Amino acid sequence: MCKKSIINSCEIETINLKTKPFLFIIFGGSGDLSQKKLLPSLYNLCKYDMLHEDSKIISIGRKKIGNQEFSDIIKKSLFTDLEKTENIKSFLKRNSYISTGSEKIGIDELNSSICSLKGVNSHQIIFYLATPPSAASNILKFIDNLDLCEKSIEKKIIIEKPFGVDRDSAKVLNKQLHQIFSENEIYRIDHYLGKETVQNILFFRFGNSIFEPLWNRSYIEKIEITVAEDIGIEKRANFYDKSGILKDIIQNHMLQLIALVTMEPPTSFDANSVRDEKVKIFKSITNMNEEYMKNHLFLGQYSSGKIEGRKINGYLEEIGVDENSKTGTFFSGKFHIDNWRWADVPIYVRAGKRLEKKLTEISITFKTPPLKLFGNDCLDLKANKLVFSIQPDEKISLTINKKYPGMENYPHPVEMNFNYSKIEKTSLSAYERLIIDCIKSDLTLFARQDGIEEMWRVLDPIVDFFDKNPQRLEKYNAGTWGVGEWHDE
Ligand code: BG6
Repeated sequence: MCKKSIINSCEIETINLKTKPFLFIIFGGSGDLSQKKLLPSLYNLCKYDMLHEDSKIISIGRKKIGNQEFSDIIKKSLFTDLEKTENIKSFLKRNSYISTGSEKIGIDELNSSICSLKGVNSHQIIFYLATPPSAASNILKFIDNLDLCEKSIEKKIIIEKPFGVDRDSAKVLNKQLHQIFSENEIYRIDHYLGKETVQNILFFRFGNSIFEPLWNRSYIEKIEITVAEDIGIEKRANFYDKSGILKDIIQNHMLQLIALVTMEPPTSFDANSVRDEKVKIFKSITNMNEEYMKNHLFLGQYSSGKIEGRKINGYLEEIGVDENSKTGTFFSGKFHIDNWRWADVPIYVRAGKRLEKKLTEISITFKTPPLKLFGNDCLDLKANKLVFSIQPDEKISLTINKKYPGMENYPHPVEMNFNYSKIEKTSLSAYERLIIDCIKSDLTLFARQDGIEEMWRVLDPIVDFFDKNPQRLEKYNAGTWGVGEWHDE
C-alpha cells in the first residue's frame, strides 16, 4: 500500500506480517528437507519477529531420539556462531519432537500435544508433508484419525513435490486429501515459485507495457530454460533413484517456469486467476509422439568426472543407488505450446545434476531485424536477448545492439542490467516466503489440483518413453553440460 506525500512520491507502508499463532507439524521432521530448509526458514521468521510468540513446531520423524537430542541436532545443523543465543533459545523453546520409530505413529502423543496447547482454539494447524510421495497416503490416514481437539480449528496442509508419482496417483492423492481438506486448505508447494526472481517474471511481464506486445511468436525466436546444478544427489538416493530428473525437476519446477514465461495476463492477481492461466498453458503443451521424442528429447546419467578440480564419483557409485540404475540425472528437450501466441516457438529446456556449474536462467531470444542494414560477415547483429537469471546471480539483463564508435557501422552488443544484489533490502528466502503465504492463506504461489494433474499429463508419456527405451539413456561426465543438443554451447 502506498501513501502519497505532498511531493507526489510514494512511501512504502510497512506491512504487518506478524502471523496469527500456529501449530506447525512437520512429517519427515528429522529428514534432509526439514533440517536444511524448513527449520532454518522457521528460525529466520522467528528471528525477524514475524511469527506469533505462541506458535509451536512439532517435528515428527523416524529417528529414535528425544527432545534434547533433537534440539542438539537443530543447533548443530542450523545455526552458525553468529547467531545470538537468545534467538536460538527462543526458537528451541517453540520446538518439540515426536519419534515414530518404525511402528504405529504416535497419535496419542500428537493428540495430547495439540490439546495441551494454551489457547489452541485460536491457533491454526499446519501439517507439512516433507516426505516422499509414497508416504503421503499413510500420513493422511494418520491425520484423519487425529481428534484435533475442536473441529472448528483452522487447518491446512502443505505437501512437497513431487505430488504423486504420475497422473493417476496424483488423482488418488487429491481425492484422499479432499476427504480431509477443502481445496483452499491444500498448499502444494514448489519452492521455485517462492523465489523472488521467479516472482519477478510475472511482475516484469505484466508491470511493464513495453515487452508484452512483443511477447509472442511474431517477435520471439526461442525460449531456453536451464536448471543446472553442480551438486549430486547428496544423501537422497532412496528418493532420487525412484524419481530422477524427470519427476524431481521437470514435472514441477521446469513446467512452472514455462508457465510463468508463457501464460496470458491474469484478470487479477488473486490465486485462482493466476492459477487459471497457468493451467491453460499446461493444457496447451503439445502431446509428443514417439517419433518426436526420439528426435527431440534426451536423458543422461552422470559418470565420474571433475567439478572445479574435485574428483566426482559417477551416479552408479553413489551410496544407495542400484548398480544397474537407469535413472536419468539430466534431461534436455524441445517443448511446444499449441496456442496462438506461441505456435512454432521452440522452448528448449535442460536440467541436470553434476553439471559444470549451478545456473538457473530463462533466456528469451528475439528475432533479428528483418532487413540487415548493419554489420558485415564477421560482425553480425546479435539477436536481442532478455535473460532472467535466477541463480546464482539474481538479475534481469537485456542485450541490445549499439553502434561501435567510429566511421563504420559496426554493431556492438551491450547489456542493460538490473541486479538484485544492488538492492539493499534483503528478501525472504523461497521457503520463508511460502510458509508466510500459507499462514496468511494466500494460495497464489501454490499449485492447484487441476494444474498438478495437467503437469503429469505432460510428463507421463515422457517417463514411459524412457522406461520403454532404456538404451536411450546416455552417459555424461560430471562437470560437463550433459547430453543432447543445446543451442548456445
Ligand atoms: C529440489 C530438488 O526441489 O530442488 C533437488 O528436489 C534440487 O534435487 C533442488 O537440488 C534445487 O533447488 P534450488 O533452489 O537449489 O535450485
